Amino acid sequence: MSGEDSKRRTNFITIPDDTAGYRLDEFCIPLHYEDDLSRVLIPAGLINDRIERLARDIVEDFDEDGLVALCVLKGGYKFFTDLLDKIKGLNRNLGRSVPLAVDFIRLKSYVDREKAWTKDDKSSGQIEVIGGDNLKNLQGKNVLIVEDIIDTGKTMQKLLGILESVKPKCIKVASMLVKRTTRSSGYKPDYTGFEIPDIFIVGYALDYNEYFRDLNHVCEINEEGKKKYASK
Ligand code: IMP
Repeated sequence: MSGEDSKRRTNFITIPDDTAGYRLDEFCIPLHYEDDLSRVLIPAGLINDRIERLARDIVEDFDEDGLVALCVLKGGYKFFTDLLDKIKGLNRNLGRSVPLAVDFIRLKSYVDREKAWTKDDKSSGQIEVIGGDNLKNLQGKNVLIVEDIIDTGKTMQKLLGILESVKPKCIKVASMLVKRTTRSSGYKPDYTGFEIPDIFIVGYALDYNEYFRDLNHVCEINEEGKKKYASK
């Protein structure tokens, strides 16, 4: 099956709304964040195992035409590197392989996303591409967008609109996380790692005002953390 005609994968791990998660003292948390988090929601080990399966699904869906993996910076960088490592491992060890190229894109959003999130529906998805290679290079290619999280879905819909204008052969989206939220535009990615409750999370390269990207588990930030790292 080529990337062009593959269907959206609907398998993902659901983290329920009433999950307790894990206590911080059950895991190794950097000392500088110990007081700023309420719980571990998804341990890094589970993320790693889930990505192994996402990589397998992706390799099954694309063929020797290959794909350009497009990393959405900065939040997508951990998922991007871990996913590509797994795909490269499969390429070395299966009887078939999917050639990979990489590209990067950086978006500027016109809303403070955490404020937008708490103030309900202010995540307007107004974005501007502020970095990366010339998007015209994606013309005629199978593009796999690699993103950290889909919240309302507006950012991704906007990005898809921008990319479609350069006429790739196909565009697929892999998102590590999807939020279960009433603010959703209805957008769903082709590959999803976990569906999570409607809470603000950090870690695994997801930030709060640029902090917490150096935390390897996906965790819930607490009020103290929000206060400490609020934008000045
Ligand atoms: P959307 O347009 O509402 O889907 O927002 C997507 C973007 O918002 C993501 O790429 C993240 O940068 C950011 N975002 C949404 N929710 C969170 C969160 O819980 N933690 C950190 N960033 C988030």
